[in-house]
Amino acid sequence: RVVSELPGPWGRLPMLGDVLALNPRKPVQSMAKLSESIGPIYELRFGPKRMVIINGAELADTVQSDSQWEKAFGPPIRRLRMLGSSGLIVASTNDPQWGAAHRVLMPGFTRESMRLYHPVMTDVVSELIRRWGRCSDPIDVAGDMNTVTLEIMARAGFGYSFANLDEPSAGTNMPVVNLMLDVLRYASRPVSIELLDATIGRAARRRNQLNVAELQRLAEDMIDECRPDVAGAPDLLQRMMETSDPETRQPLARSVVRDQVLTFLIAGHETSAGTLTFALHLLSHRPDVVKRVRQEIDTITGGDPTTLAYEQVAKLRYLRRVVDETLRLWPVAGGFFRRPKQDTELGGYTVRRGEWVYVNLIGVHRDKHIWGSDADQFDPERFVRDPSQERQPGAYKPFGIGLRSCIGRQFALHEIVLTLAHILYAFDLEPDLKYRLAVDELVTLKPAGLRMRLRSRS
Ligand code: HEM
Repeated sequence: RVVSELPGPWGRLPMLGDVLALNPRKPVQSMAKLSESIGPIYELRFGPKRMVIINGAELADTVQSDSQWEKAFGPPIRRLRMLGSSGLIVASTNDPQWGAAHRVLMPGFTRESMRLYHPVMTDVVSELIRRWGRCSDPIDVAGDMNTVTLEIMARAGFGYSFANLDEPSAGTNMPVVNLMLDVLRYASRPVSIELLDATIGRAARRRNQLNVAELQRLAEDMIDECRPDVAGAPDLLQRMMETSDPETRQPLARSVVRDQVLTFLIAGHETSAGTLTFALHLLSHRPDVVKRVRQEIDTITGGDPTTLAYEQVAKLRYLRRVVDETLRLWPVAGGFFRRPKQDTELGGYTVRRGEWVYVNLIGVHRDKHIWGSDADQFDPERFVRDPSQERQPGAYKPFGIGLRSCIGRQFALHEIVLTLAHILYAFDLEPDLKYRLAVDELVTLKPAGLRMRLRSRS
């Protein structure tokens, strides 16, 4: 029985549709909540536009095939086009610029390239550890994690440094971090506010244009300062400046390089920072898990994580399970959009060609049929018991699916495991017992207002 009428939330308004069904500041979390009362598949309508929301592993499995489905560009990804329309994340798969940039950049994420980024990641994290070691006040976890991952992306990817993180001024208020957060805040604004852009929203729009222009200038500076690679080990920017597309034999246009620099600066730091922040929050309440992580670090490094070598990071298997479990519970990307290439059937309903289907990862990753009745609990043991992330294809997809899944997956996992290893070995985490987790959505998910006191272990 295939029907086109999908269930939807209660209280649909004429013309406006389901705007009242979602908390406009927390759309991903409200969509997951709605599925508890409506079921794993339902529709939301905004004016004439229909969006299908899926929250279950089996449904997520159905939309995986790249021959029948493709990436769709819902808000806020669509709004990120303001940063440059040929950026890898926002460009259409048919856009020749996407294909060219993808082919040029892919070798920048092989094992060999990752080996080059490792010492840079170690340097940046060591600087942070030194600064934290001198600090007795509670730290702003999200702010500092943003600083670390942005600095790693800039140094490893573009041979550029915003700050030495050992300096007192390199804290949470680094202007470039705030500039990016402002742009992300603007890209995440609710549709109802977007409608006011032409009137009372004019000042905010103007400020955003200035922010975007400043970020574009920054990317241009990075390109100007890029020096040729003489060691035969190019970073991402040198690769883009010096390599031609292996298919067309053409170099990338400067504007395309600039769009990728901005894409990587934003996509390559915000998600990793969010994951690290969630992990530190969860671990601050689980000294038993931290203890096991430290035992593993002792076994692998002989008690000195500062010597952690590239090959040893992959051997920190238990810590990796902690990261897997963090991304299951809090998939920082929130979800992603797909659309069918032809009219099709999804969960017993008809979905028309080109219609948006949003895979809500909070719903998928907490599907009790797959993850059990304790799916809402943080328990790295579930990945220890069954390391396969494919209990059912589609059940665990924090990095997206298919051709357009995350190009930076290995980079992110290496940097997150390495950073946590250094932090957890150097400090005891003291949670603020009054803090209740509240999750902000600024394109990606992130704990709001998390502060934590650290005690040096040495
Ligand atoms: C795409 C998640 C870290 C660069 C994606 C997508 C997801 C994702 C879900 C697909 C988006 C969609 O379908 O619309 C994550 C998570 C990360 C992470 C959870 C960290 C925990 C990174 C890092 C980089 C990066 C560190 C860069 C070094 C990109 C790029 C794309 C992408 C360029 C677009 C790929 C394309 O379509 O060609 N990411 N990401 N990401 N990610 Fe990541």
